Amino acid sequence: MAFVLRLWLHLLLLLLLLVVIVFVPHLPPCEAQQSYVNNLQLNCDQNPNTTLGFVCNGASTSCTSYLTFRSTPLYNNPVNIAYLLNADASQIAAANNISDIDTLPTDTLLIVPVNCSCSGPNNNRYYQHNASYTLNRQGETYFTVSNDTYQALTTCQSMEAQNSYNLRRLVPGLRLNVPLRCACSTPNQTAAGYRYLLTYLVRQGNNVDYIAGAFSGAGADVQGILDANELTPDQIIYFFTPLLVPLTTPPTRLNINTRPSPPPPASPPLIPTTPSAQTGGGSDSRKWVFIGVGIAVLVLFVSGFAIWFFFLRRRRRHKAPFPPKQLADESGGVTTARPLPNWSVSSESIRGALETLTLYKFEELEKATESFSESNRINGSSVYRGSFKGDNAVVKIMKGDVTREIGVLRQINHSHILRLSGFCLHQGITYLVYEHAEKGSLTDWLRPPNSIIMVQHNKRNLNDEQRLDWKQRVQIAYDVADALNYLHNFTNPPYIHKNLKSSNILLDANMRAKVANFGLARTLDTDDQSIMTRHVVGTYGYMAPEYIENGLITPKLDVFALGVVILELLSGKEPIINNNVGKNGNEDDESDQTLLSGSIKEVMSGENVREKLQEFMDPWLGEEYPAELAYSMAQLARSCVAHNLDARPAVSELFMALSKLLSASLDWDPSYQLQHSTSFNLSD
Ligand SMILES: *[C@@H]1O[C@H](CO)[C@@H](O)[C@H](O)[C@H]1NC(C)=O
Ligand SMILES: *[C@@H]1O[C@H](CO)[C@@H](O)[C@H](O)[C@H]1NC(C)=O
Ligand SMILES: *[C@@H]1O[C@H](CO)[C@@H](O)[C@H](O)[C@H]1NC(C)=O
Ligand SMILES: *[C@@H]1O[C@H](CO)[C@@H](O)[C@H](O)[C@H]1NC(C)=O
Ligand SMILES: *[C@@H]1O[C@H](CO)[C@@H](O)[C@H](O)[C@H]1NC(C)=O
Ligand SMILES: *[C@@H]1O[C@H](CO)[C@@H](O)[C@H](O)[C@H]1NC(C)=O
Repeated sequence: MAFVLRLWLHLLLLLLLLVVIVFVPHLPPCEAQQSYVNNLQLNCDQNPNTTLGFVCNGASTSCTSYLTFRSTPLYNNPVNIAYLLNADASQIAAANNISDIDTLPTDTLLIVPVNCSCSGPNNNRYYQHNASYTLNRQGETYFTVSNDTYQALTTCQSMEAQNSYNLRRLVPGLRLNVPLRCACSTPNQTAAGYRYLLTYLVRQGNNVDYIAGAFSGAGADVQGILDANELTPDQIIYFFTPLLVPLTTPPTRLNINTRPSPPPPASPPLIPTTPSAQTGGGSDSRKWVFIGVGIAVLVLFVSGFAIWFFFLRRRRRHKAPFPPKQLADESGGVTTARPLPNWSVSSESIRGALETLTLYKFEELEKATESFSESNRINGSSVYRGSFKGDNAVVKIMKGDVTREIGVLRQINHSHILRLSGFCLHQGITYLVYEHAEKGSLTDWLRPPNSIIMVQHNKRNLNDEQRLDWKQRVQIAYDVADALNYLHNFTNPPYIHKNLKSSNILLDANMRAKVANFGLARTLDTDDQSIMTRHVVGTYGYMAPEYIENGLITPKLDVFALGVVILELLSGKEPIINNNVGKNGNEDDESDQTLLSGSIKEVMSGENVREKLQEFMDPWLGEEYPAELAYSMAQLARSCVAHNLDARPAVSELFMALSKLLSASLDWDPSYQLQHSTSFNLSD
């Protein structure tokens, strides 16, 4: 029974197709679809309206649509491609069954989902998806950007129409609007079941049959493509031109087949492609021969195709329910084409990042760090020293989500914040390249690793070149306050570092501080000065009580942490003091731990403050510090670590106070600085 029905349907379909095919050449090209660009995009001096964009004639003014893109050596992973096309890396990855940061072989065809909408000049006449591109080489023109960089997803004419820059004044650094050609289905296409339009980049050797075959899994067919582009079967299509492919289902790696399969030699391509840069179709007499032969072949080909297609669709319909169900079971209701990547970079942050940062090749990093050799590794960490064409830098290997670090640092430029100069994505791992802070972390200066500190009270050790003097300590506190003041008050949106500690403060060759490690940083809305979180992360000893107890995030969190750092600068002590070290080795016993932030209260109150403070100060300083200023600084630190956050100064006040302390310190005993100024060359 089913078989008879199928046979009948099959015959009916064939009959219908025959009727359609016989009459198609006589009908005017189906109205209201998009006219093919017809290689007119090559002539940038003229702008016939087909080059300006696909006309906004669809059923809706915006829709999801798809672009195709072929990977190039620079744009070879979803993150970079998303950046170029203003798309979403995770969506690209999902559509192509790869991960966000998979590196693709050059020339891999990728599907890129984008939002397409009516916008652009002449009252939003054209469907387009806006991207933008910053010129980065001399000699780039609207044509090279549209044809080479964007692979003909746009045209020089539409770029010229939507950018105010004169063709002859294009210089590196200019940011151009790039309207990418996309379209939404017309009512007629919708009625025919086509829900999506894909902008396909025609390339050498492709013909409409090939393209229809490649996307047949998503419902493409020859007639649909011809209609969508107002093409007649004998018309020539050119490579490096975009062609619309109407689809019934979203295209994915799983339902397209774009492996180059040369058309069978027996049946000549119906729609010849030509590398010719000239416009126009074949000659008239040839055209008629073509149509004669064409119809015959077309009938054969299309009916064969239709049979195959018919069965394929039926099969799919039967199979369809199973895979999604399976996915839903595995991932708790999330139906994506594959497991979600363990991190994803939002295209927004990467877009910005690539403008200010260098994208390194992995080979460059290997070269710079001598293949990540042990000798270049910094203290067993995941950070390596490297030399990029003579410039020192460090390479940090990051796992997990680096979006925040990149997102924050790319928009920050401050002399006391460690500069991120570039990054590299390689096999799922992100490598961040920072400026090199030669003198290492503040922690290492206050408490040198691998050295048993045996100092007697009030007595400076002979081997004290690697010690910070008073002025340097005040300078460091001031620099850090400067950086925080900038983060809290001069960036838009404001940032809270959230993880300030002495190991995240690095020192450059001049012993000036650079704040590093923005992995936990977060923004605050200007109106909203606090956030609650249940996810308390940070370093014990530096975390403010309201954050530990209630998850409250305010700028005063950083003030508290800076207070602890100042206490470290004064005392050289760790933020958590183990009182019973050496007694029973039970260092983790909290009852025997004192927080540095708690101990200052006791030092600064009651009697004998002077003596208690002297006791508290770093023995390495000896007597070589101005007691009055040390007292003021300790007072300041104490106010920063006040239990009540309202009692803590704002970072701007702290910065002012430290600037006064710094100038007073610089006035203090100027001969001291001279005496020690040569010592820093010795250390490293
Ligand atoms: C839809 O197609 C019919 C003929 O098939 C045509 O008359 C009509 O104008 C088309 N409408 C649109 C909006 O394309
Ligand atoms: C496109 O240009 C042609 C001739 O250049 C003109 O006849 C036609 O009206 C234009 N179409 C639109 C929609 O502006
Ligand atoms: C999708 O990618 C995963 C991992 O790369 C692979 O195991 C799986 O077979 C792919 N699915 C298909 C249908 O190609
Ligand atoms: C399209 O826009 C919607 C919201 O406007 C967004 O959720 C979606 O991710 C966008 N799609 C793409 C491909 O950017
Ligand atoms: C796209 O860019 C054009 C200018 O090139 C602008 O007029 C239009 O508003 C933009 N559309 C969207 C959706 O941002
Ligand atoms: C257009 O770009 C392709 C590479 O994408 C290149 O091979 C071709 O030569 C370019 N066309 C012109 C006319 O420069």
